[in-house]
Amino acid sequence: MNLEIGKLGHTEKAPMDLLFKADPSIEMIEKYLYSGECYLAKMNDEVVGVFVLMPNNPQEMELKNISIVDQYQGQGIGKEIIKYVMRISKMEGYEYLVVKTADTSADTIKYYEKMKFEHYFVAKGHFLKYYNQPIIENGNQAIDQVAMRRKL
Ligand SMILES: CC(C)(COP(=O)(O)OP(=O)(O)OC[C@H]1O[C@@H](n2cnc3c(N)ncnc32)[C@H](O)[C@@H]1OP(=O)(O)O)[C@@H](O)C(=O)NCCC(=O)NCCS
Repeated sequence: MNLEIGKLGHTEKAPMDLLFKADPSIEMIEKYLYSGECYLAKMNDEVVGVFVLMPNNPQEMELKNISIVDQYQGQGIGKEIIKYVMRISKMEGYEYLVVKTADTSADTIKYYEKMKFEHYFVAKGHFLKYYNQPIIENGNQAIDQVAMRRKL
């Protein structure tokens, strides 16, 4: 696969539409774009994926907002991104890679389980506390946040 992964260039804009597919709150996206580092995955100069990296503490790197363009999903790009993130995070001395999602995101949880992430903790009421509007997914309101992690 001819995939190039790298930090968002100084003259590039973060692909908000793509980030929005993984997190329905523009405020939250803006917050972690400010405090984290945005990366793009490209094929032949076309953006096919995006993600943000943000350390939680000296042991944990968090992979936030991984999102692949619809027509490129299911082709192993997400998997390549996770491998890349694990490699650079380990090189930087982190022990764990953490991901977080909503309790209603059954597909995403299954995906992370498939990617060998283990359940870490549940932040009760996270989506009530930090999101201004109710987040509805598959007809259910997201309430708790599920954190998962993988040893590097
Ligand atoms: C979730 C997402 C990042 C996955 O990326 P992707 O490039 O489509 O996934 P990959 O092609 O790398 O899939 C890797 C493996 O996981 C499997 N898989 C993909 N989605 C899955 C799911 N929902 N449940 C179980 N397995 C899944 C694939 O079949 C593949 O298996 P294989 O290695 O045996 O072939 C992508 O679908 C996406 O952008 N979704 C919308 C945004 C989003 O919800 N992001 C998560 C935010 S927290």
